[in-house]
This record gives sequence, C-alpha cells and structure tokens, in this order.
Amino acid sequence: MAGSSASLLLLFLLFGFSAAKELLVGGKTDAWKVPSSEADSLNQWAEKSRFKVGDYLVWKYDGGKDSVLQVNKEDYGSCNTSNPIEEYKDGNTKVKLDRPGPHYFISGAKGHCEKGQKLVVVVMTPKHSRDRAISPASSPAELEEGPAVAPTSSATVLQSGFVAVLGVLAMYVM
Ligand SMILES: *[C@@H]1O[C@H](CO)[C@@H](O)[C@H](O)[C@H]1NC(C)=O
Repeated sequence: MAGSSASLLLLFLLFGFSAAKELLVGGKTDAWKVPSSEADSLNQWAEKSRFKVGDYLVWKYDGGKDSVLQVNKEDYGSCNTSNPIEEYKDGNTKVKLDRPGPHYFISGAKGHCEKGQKLVVVVMTPKHSRDRAISPASSPAELEEGPAVAPTSSATVLQSGFVAVLGVLAMYVM
C-alpha cells in the first residue's frame, strides 16, 4: 500500500542518514603514526569528520610496534600511558563510540604521543540532530546552539522546509 511504502521511505529518510559508520582513523590505513606535520595530524582529520553515537573508529597499524590507548582527558594532555581506560594492540582495532562527547586516544608506543600521535574525537549529542529532524519548530529555548541553527542561506531555508515537511509527515504516519 502507498501508506506503508511512504512510511518505509520516511524511516529511511529519518534514520538512513544516521546509520552507524566505520571510520578509518586518519582516512587511510597507515595513518596511526607520528604525524609529519601539524597539517597531517589526526586531529586535523577529526575536525573535518562527523562522529555519531554508534559509529566505530577503526585503526590499522602494526600491532608489534604500536598500540591504541583510550585514556581520560588528563592522560591525553600529559601523554601518560600508564593507566589507560582501554588498551588495544591487535593491529586492527575497532572502537564503538558509545556516548556523546569527547573520546581521547593516544599511542602506546614510547614517545609517540609527545610527538603528536594522539586523537580526540568529539561525538555529537544525538538530541540535537533528532530534535531538528522531527520538530524543526521547537521553541527558541531548545535551540541551544544559537546562530549555528539559524538559517543563513536560502539552501538552509529550503532544507529546513524539507525537514519540516518530513516532521509533519512523521506525525501523520506514526
Ligand atoms: C601517570 O598517571 C599515574 C596515575 O594517575 C601517576 O601515578 C603517574 O605519576 C603519571 N605519570 C606521569 C609521567 O605523569
């Protein structure tokens, strides 16, 4: 029936975009190493990427020479490898980003973190993306992000119009 295919399409539109992804750290297989320059650093890559709850980070490296340590903020800052939250050294590490906020990783190889082999990934808060998709007409108080949310171009206006239609459709179908 038309109704059920419409709701399938709607489900795809609403949730298809947010399907869990596997993100290769640095965007290439040999990226977990001491960066050759600031521009080459993993945090430069991280700043250009979007991370959502449920996504996986994947590291490929030589497990005999290096490791991935998940650490807290302090140990990230001081490159302290002595008390990681998790230690991975299998050469093919996959970590699920299971909560919003920052996740800190450093190399377990001696001296590498100090030379810049470290990564902080900030996972988006799911509340924001969901609110925006389903109830674009939320009250100003809910739009905590301020100017970032305000439509700034006609493309954005078009996009919010589209999302608004989806939202209305969602209420109708569900
Ligand atoms: C690393 O952290 C541990 C535990 O917090 C602490 O005892 C140690 O002194 C730290 N090492 C360095 C080099 O800061």
